[in-house]
Amino acid sequence: MKVIVVSRSGREIVKGGLELSDSATVAELQETIHKRTKKFYPSRQRLTLPVPPGSKDRPVALHYKKSLKEYSDGNSSSLTVVFKDLGPQVYYSTLFFWEYLGPLLLYPVFYFFPGVYRLFGYSGAAETHHKVQTYALYYWCFHYFKRIMETFFVHRFSHATSPLSNVFRNCTYYWTFGSYIAYYLNHPLYTPVGDLQMKIGFGFGILCQVSNFYCHIILRNLRSPDGNGGYQIPKGFLFNIVTCANYTTEIYQWLGFNIATQTVAGYVFLVVATSIMTNWAFAKHRRLRKLILCIQCLFNNRAAVRREGRKAQVSLAMGDTATLHLNTEVTPLKDVKAREVPEDQSLLSTCFPSSGVAL
Ligand SMILES: NC(=O)c1ccc[n+]([C@@H]2O[C@H](COP(=O)([O-])OP(=O)(O)OC[C@H]3O[C@@H](n4cnc5c(N)ncnc54)[C@H](OP(=O)(O)O)[C@@H]3O)[C@@H](O)[C@H]2O)c1
Repeated sequence: MKVIVVSRSGREIVKGGLELSDSATVAELQETIHKRTKKFYPSRQRLTLPVPPGSKDRPVALHYKKSLKEYSDGNSSSLTVVFKDLGPQVYYSTLFFWEYLGPLLLYPVFYFFPGVYRLFGYSGAAETHHKVQTYALYYWCFHYFKRIMETFFVHRFSHATSPLSNVFRNCTYYWTFGSYIAYYLNHPLYTPVGDLQMKIGFGFGILCQVSNFYCHIILRNLRSPDGNGGYQIPKGFLFNIVTCANYTTEIYQWLGFNIATQTVAGYVFLVVATSIMTNWAFAKHRRLRKLILCIQCLFNNRAAVRREGRKAQVSLAMGDTATLHLNTEVTPLKDVKAREVPEDQSLLSTCFPSSGVAL
């Protein structure tokens, strides 16, 4: 099969195209592009199918595990793909590791080395620490240690890599806030809260941290170990009440920390983190809402489905529409009868086997 690789402006990326076997996969194509271009290793490449001029459709991204034949619409002799350079990449685990390592290491510096305050003009360093400050140190370090452990042993990421530039952006966010809070909380002039308030704050915060961990276990179980499974609707525990229970528990655990420690810096972080996670939660809620509407409408036979190649336009009874990106092995949707559809998420695999569904 001849594969022509072009940029979005139509310029040929690999002169003369590439010759691959008819059974070649997208991953093999990416490797071949890498061999010819050196700079563009596979995770840097985003390959899509060309969108016809004037079409408002979003380009379909090629999945690395699929065969090129699936994208050639029956024409196995040639295929044109559009190439985008995503820039230098790092593993998600690397990104998370570096952003969490900063606060984990910087916070104790302010606790164990009160001499740093001399650099900021305070000569009378505190001789001892109040127990709120000591518990805050344990709480803080436990939190970031937990997040590093979750990164390596719990989360099942759908994307292997992220742009390198995100490392600098995220590290700036976490390292700056970590130092800012640590500075005020361990300051020689820090005034602790009362004993009862401290106990309530830390007690509530720990409960939320444990709940947050449990939410991450629930999310983990939605995917297979290799990260396949797409996005599903999480069920159970606090997910029965709120869509992104992991963000809710994260926000509340910072609230607990702030009740116990009471610094302006801590509350500023709480407000910023809450606004970031609220935005993400709304976006995730909208995506999952579309998914659940599709399931309900298909279940009730109230969805009009129009199929075009690898796409299915689902018009829902309430006037909403969603485009599902399918793969070619899909069962024709018109064959799905209401009675065949189980009343749960496995509907998706009934309608769209091989879990090639993305909203
Ligand atoms: N303090 C702060 O400012 C702050 C900000 C953000 C996050 N956090 C904390 O860090 C944790 C991780 O953050 P995150 O943004 O990576 O959380 P996230 O997007 O909710 O993801 C956690 C993991 O679960 C997967 N996942 C999420 N929803 C899923 C679904 N519906 N179906 C299947 N898998 C799903 C994600 O997959 P994908 O790889 O596909 O995304 C990811 O691997 C949060 O839960 C929170 O505790 C803190």
